[in-house]
Amino acid sequence: MGIERNLFIREFLRNPLRTASIIPSSRSVARCMAATLPIEGDPVVVELGPGTGAFTTEIQRRLGGRGRHLAMELNDKFAALLRDRFPAVDVVVGDAAHVRRLLGERGLDRADAIVSGLPYALFSQPLQHLLMGAVRDCLAPDGIFVAFAYVHAAWSPPARRFSRLLESLFGEVAVGKIVWANLPPAFVYTARHVKSPQHANARDRGAIDSWRDSWRDS
Ligand SMILES: C[S@@+](CC[C@H](N)C(=O)[O-])C[C@H]1O[C@@H](n2cnc3c(N)ncnc32)[C@H](O)[C@@H]1O
Repeated sequence: MGIERNLFIREFLRNPLRTASIIPSSRSVARCMAATLPIEGDPVVVELGPGTGAFTTEIQRRLGGRGRHLAMELNDKFAALLRDRFPAVDVVVGDAAHVRRLLGERGLDRADAIVSGLPYALFSQPLQHLLMGAVRDCLAPDGIFVAFAYVHAAWSPPARRFSRLLESLFGEVAVGKIVWANLPPAFVYTARHVKSPQHANARDRGAIDSWRDSWRDS
């Protein structure tokens, strides 16, 4: 645990906006995230922003050798550590916005679950739209999207915007209880029944499409 924590602190000091937290999430939050995953079959689980593996540990425990577990992490030092710690996880250094490509390269067209460790409340509106558009595009119709957020930031405009975006993209969004055993305290969003693009809020739909197109072109 010491190695992960030290690396996390170092990477936070190097790039605070991207790393977003000074220490990894607690096991309590990780358990809440993983508790939503299917307990049967062989699901394809994609983890975005795994960091040093706080959620990865619990996802692996929950899967117990079933299915596929793919992880996309921008930070190559975190990714190297994850590969050592979790040989059963397919860890890729890359931007979560490329999640569809990640699946396609492995002959998969849908994820049954997407578990996000990304700091959405620090992201601009275009980036939120881009990343959630990517999630929408590759989540199975009966798939589940799980994300966490910090309580202290929940009323900030970007956090509220993210919450509205979830409501716009999914038929069902649940907000879990506050997990006090985390620094800082956090809660978990669980979203299901991804809406077809026609049913998403028209403004969000337009923004997602236009940002995705401009990003693809860049
Ligand atoms: C708040 S940390 C969470 C790490 C871990 N899930 C946890 O809870 O301890 C956010 C993580 O997302 C990664 N990240 C940020 N933007 C990303 C992106 N666009 N694609 C992939 N990973 C990203 C960061 O490098 C960092 O590891």
